[in-house]
Amino acid sequence: MARNRPIPLVIDCDPGTDDAVALLLAAASPELDLVAVTAAGGNVGLDHTLRNALALMRLAGHSTPVYSGADRPLLGRYQGVQWVHGEDGMGGVGLPPGGPPAPGHAADALRALLRTAPAPVTLVGIAPVTNLGLALATEPALADKIAEIVLMTGAWGEGNATPAAEFNALSDPEALQILLGLGRPITIAGLELTAQALVTPARIAALRTLGGGACLQAACDVLASVPHAKRLGGEGSALHDPCAVAWLIAPHLFTARPCFVEVDCGPGPNRGRTVIDRWDRLGRPHNARVLETLDADGFFALLGQRLARLP
Ligand code: RIB
Ligand code: CA
Repeated sequence: MARNRPIPLVIDCDPGTDDAVALLLAAASPELDLVAVTAAGGNVGLDHTLRNALALMRLAGHSTPVYSGADRPLLGRYQGVQWVHGEDGMGGVGLPPGGPPAPGHAADALRALLRTAPAPVTLVGIAPVTNLGLALATEPALADKIAEIVLMTGAWGEGNATPAAEFNALSDPEALQILLGLGRPITIAGLELTAQALVTPARIAALRTLGGGACLQAACDVLASVPHAKRLGGEGSALHDPCAVAWLIAPHLFTARPCFVEVDCGPGPNRGRTVIDRWDRLGRPHNARVLETLDADGFFALLGQRLARLP
């Protein structure tokens, strides 16, 4: 479906190596108008995720405002995954510092942005969605200003943070449930989808040949720092967050299924499990579109072509 103007979007992130590539992909794509970036604590603490988001937007030559947000979930305590992303969240790949954050809290900025937006805005959540949950729980009427919510979250099967839960969903299930209950179009890229975007040394080497720009090389460097995932057989790692951005740029690379989705907000071992009813066994109304398959070669070709455009 050809669009005649760029999609206005906000990316809520926790860079994070895969978030970094997602931000660069968005910055390089004329189909998207990145109007704001909001940072949350997630992969690593908010101090690092904010610094990384600022550095990445400067590296990409973008003046998009970056807002500091929640450093912990709505309930419960913050827990990072530094062993995946490094203590600094960028796999130890030092980026030149970015500028200062935009003033104000991310949730307030999101509300102000939605309130005044001339057209509905797309929200991309590739972190624990505390900022998005806070903004919309405190002003639910703003849901009418949302065109679509695209989330990297959840799984219909095994988790990656616990046997039951994917990391973003586990980190703030209450915030995720707020979004699932909004009644707005939600698209979910879960672990079964992102596992198809398998980053291997060969794919990184192929990306490196596409140009010498700082952004492309930094993306390859952070990807090369990610440990191979035992869950995926130990050969490579899933490139999670760029899948959410790629959906907006090239939906033809995906197949999707409308489903009923809810998240377990209980205290037990199933906390953060996303119940994704792909076969309509519960007979509940569909509240999300779940991405099921990815043309991986097409995805990496798109990624390389876009990253090579950046400075
Ligand atoms: O489970 C993968 C997700 O958790 C990705 O968004 C990754 O960056 C982490 O935030
Ligand atoms: Ca993330």
